[in-house]
Amino acid sequence: MQIHETIGGLRAALKPLRPAARIALVPTMGNLHEGHIALVTQARRHADAVVATIFVNRLQFRPGEDFDKYPRTFAADCEKLAAAGVEHLFAPAESEMYPQPQRYHVEPPAEHADVIEGEFRPGHFRGVATVVMKLFQIAQPDVALFGKKDFQQLMVIRSMAADFDLPIEIVPGETVRAADGLALSSRNGYLTDDQRKEAPRLFRTLTKVVENIRAGNRDFPGLERAAMAEMAAHGWIPDYIAVRNTFDLQLPAAHESRLVVLAAARLGSTRLIDNLEV
Ligand code: PAJ
Repeated sequence: MQIHETIGGLRAALKPLRPAARIALVPTMGNLHEGHIALVTQARRHADAVVATIFVNRLQFRPGEDFDKYPRTFAADCEKLAAAGVEHLFAPAESEMYPQPQRYHVEPPAEHADVIEGEFRPGHFRGVATVVMKLFQIAQPDVALFGKKDFQQLMVIRSMAADFDLPIEIVPGETVRAADGLALSSRNGYLTDDQRKEAPRLFRTLTKVVENIRAGNRDFPGLERAAMAEMAAHGWIPDYIAVRNTFDLQLPAAHESRLVVLAAARLGSTRLIDNLEV
């Protein structure tokens, strides 16, 4: 696996591959787990060469969030990517991605960026969209993979690619879970042993909401309230549990059947997110 720390280095390595080879991009912030590796494996099936990126993007963290303590495990990440057959890793320093503070940004529309997750993390999706646009320009992939674990992020990036006519196929990856249902996440590492035992309640609560909807319950606000109360009763501080349509995450129309239940809740100081399609 080649490791590139500069934009020029990555571009020089990819240039001879074009146009014959199809290039896939898998952007990450590192601290890799099976969810990331599943995206890489899936990327292999869509392309001849896989480019993974590791960059903890300051732009998508708000002051007070976990940018500084975000786990950085570069050596272990490299081993996992190489074992998964990644040809190219782009791992720039902050000074390479942002040699000066970023002046131009990709501004997702309020109905995508200021709702659900965006309501609790103002500016987050602007930071995500901006760095992903940069990574797209840097690597110029034919296809890029994003996990459904971050369902709203996937929706924002799909919409951005469509609105800017980007010649990049956006491919979703299914959420990879631990045996007890907890969605794999770099932030799971913040949990104490007791919190780790409690953490699968998020998935179980989402499962219950989905089962209720499948059984014909269309009282979404009622289901959301009951699910939030259930979490709170077990020591969580829920930010939201929201039933939305899958394509633009707006409130579902009366007979909409393409539904997703999204949730974010804090357990101690750790904030976990998850979602489940109906
Ligand atoms: P990160 O949280 O490292 O996630 C990188 C990719 O892995 C994202 O597409 C995410 O949705 C996916 N992923 C995370 N956990 C997963 C799981 N359990 N199952 C399947 N896929 C999973 O998301 C980001 O980084 C950043 O916002 C980024 C897109 C890299 C921009 O900075």
